[in-house]
Amino acid sequence: MMEQSFVMMKPDVAQRRLLGKILTRFEEKGLQLVAMKLLQIDESLAKEHYGEHAEKPFFNDLVSYITSSPSLAMVIKGDDAISLIRKIVGATNPKEADLGTIRGDFAMDMGRNVIHASDAPESAKREIALFFDDDEICDYQMVD
Ligand code: CMP
Repeated sequence: MMEQSFVMMKPDVAQRRLLGKILTRFEEKGLQLVAMKLLQIDESLAKEHYGEHAEKPFFNDLVSYITSSPSLAMVIKGDDAISLIRKIVGATNPKEADLGTIRGDFAMDMGRNVIHASDAPESAKREIALFFDDDEICDYQMVD
């Protein structure tokens, strides 16, 4: 089924000059980038995006990290994109993520796991709406 997922490269990716290298993985797989925004996330957006973790012990660290420097927010589209992107991204804990996945290849630390990707259609819808207006999502044909 054609799906859109919300994907966000976290602050240390731009700081480490890894945005292009990681973006390439989605393009090479055949997924379609339909929206993209480099932004400094503020505290209220961070708390809303990560609302489901509000009671977790790591919540404050998560919010302060995600607001510390710009993140790259994206909408990526493709056939079964949500689960496919989770596969490309790898396990939440980078030490458990398989080599060949983004987290497996670029991260060591749970709190600095490089990238966020929606885990289900409902969260994708919610997260996309939080970061993008409808008219910021592009509709275009790919060429081979
Ligand atoms: P993400 O996929 O963005 O969703 C929630 C984030 O919380 C997760 O990636 C991790 O970066 C972070 N996180 C989850 N569990 C822990 C933990 N035990 N300690 C620190 N950070 C965590």
